[in-house]
Amino acid sequence: MNPHSASGSETESFIPAPGATRGKPVGTGVAIRGTGAYTPEKVLTNDDITHLVDTTDEWIVTRTGIRERRIAAPDETAADMAVRAGARALEKAGLNPADIDLVIVATITPDMPFPSTACLVQDRLGMGPVCAFDVEAACSGFIYITEIATSMLQSGRFHNALVIGTEKLSSILDWNDRSTCVLFGDGAGAAVLSREENGNGDGGRGIIDTRLGADGSASNILYMPGGGCRIPATAASVTAGHHFLKMNGREVFKIAVRIMGQASQDILTDNNLGLGDAALIIPHQANSRIIEMLSERMKLPMDRFHMNLDRLGNTSAASVPLALDEAVEQGKIRPGDYVVLVAFGAGLTWGATLLRW
Ligand code: UT7
Repeated sequence: MNPHSASGSETESFIPAPGATRGKPVGTGVAIRGTGAYTPEKVLTNDDITHLVDTTDEWIVTRTGIRERRIAAPDETAADMAVRAGARALEKAGLNPADIDLVIVATITPDMPFPSTACLVQDRLGMGPVCAFDVEAACSGFIYITEIATSMLQSGRFHNALVIGTEKLSSILDWNDRSTCVLFGDGAGAAVLSREENGNGDGGRGIIDTRLGADGSASNILYMPGGGCRIPATAASVTAGHHFLKMNGREVFKIAVRIMGQASQDILTDNNLGLGDAALIIPHQANSRIIEMLSERMKLPMDRFHMNLDRLGNTSAASVPLALDEAVEQGKIRPGDYVVLVAFGAGLTWGATLLRW
């Protein structure tokens, strides 16, 4: 599929579930029961970065909207942050670790290539020997794992899932590359998803629908070449900078605007909702100009888009759940509101989730 025209849903149509009232979105019977967040203490401002590379606060703010980001301590890992965010989500959901029977972590900066960060989190949170695995879909990771968890819960074999996006991007940035090091930050966001005992099939709360897509032909515009089997770690690969994130920012920007716009519109219209029915859009926090263009394209005012990238930068898989938790904490989402989560990232991957709070 060509990313320049892709929506991931072009061939799909809305088909009401048996018995559902046409025109009302049909739920999946799965809802977010609690959210949680964790960001490291250390704040790295734009001014701090001017001491590392040839840049200015003015350039970074004008081109990205980012003013500062959080940086994990040297010994603080993606699993450490995931445990903090996950514990908070459990607390807010009113559940104990023993209630969780599925743990999925989305990350491109796992503690180690293996075992999965989800296994480390499962152990550290004191859960039983339940299913735990990682998913790598970069900045779309949280949308991907929310869909995977929703489907597994719907199967009836699982009851409560803990899904976490966590990243220590500071560990894969080239701090001599001004085109990337100014953009990213560290953190973790989490959500507990549960089967709704009474179901939410007819306009009730919960996850309504998800669109996922990917286009591997654009894998060369955002990637990290080293560390896998193609370029294993050697002294030469480290010296060549193969273990740093590489990006063609301008290309990613163009595709991001198109894909996030299309995915957000499709998920609403495919469910017989108008764009204005979305009380809040939680977009991936990559660049304020991308979000402004999304707002223009959807003809929705900027106050319908939650943003925290000015304070956290781009935290990849943690970006959407961090923003979701913040919006919930700030009371920006009320019961009955339709909310759209939308993201794009390396792969390229993209996804959108429609839910009713
Ligand atoms: O989660 C997905 C991950 N990625 C993204 O979402 C990134 C999407 N892309 C972007 O956000 C933007 O493309 C960037 C913020 C990365 C770059 O903004 P841009 O407006 O596309 O700038 P550009 O790459 O076209 O560069 C314009 C100029 C260049 O100088 P010349 O060639 O015009 O002289 C760059 O060298 O800005 C220069 N530049 C900088 N100058 C000061 C690039 N980075 C910096 C910097 N400070 N940090």
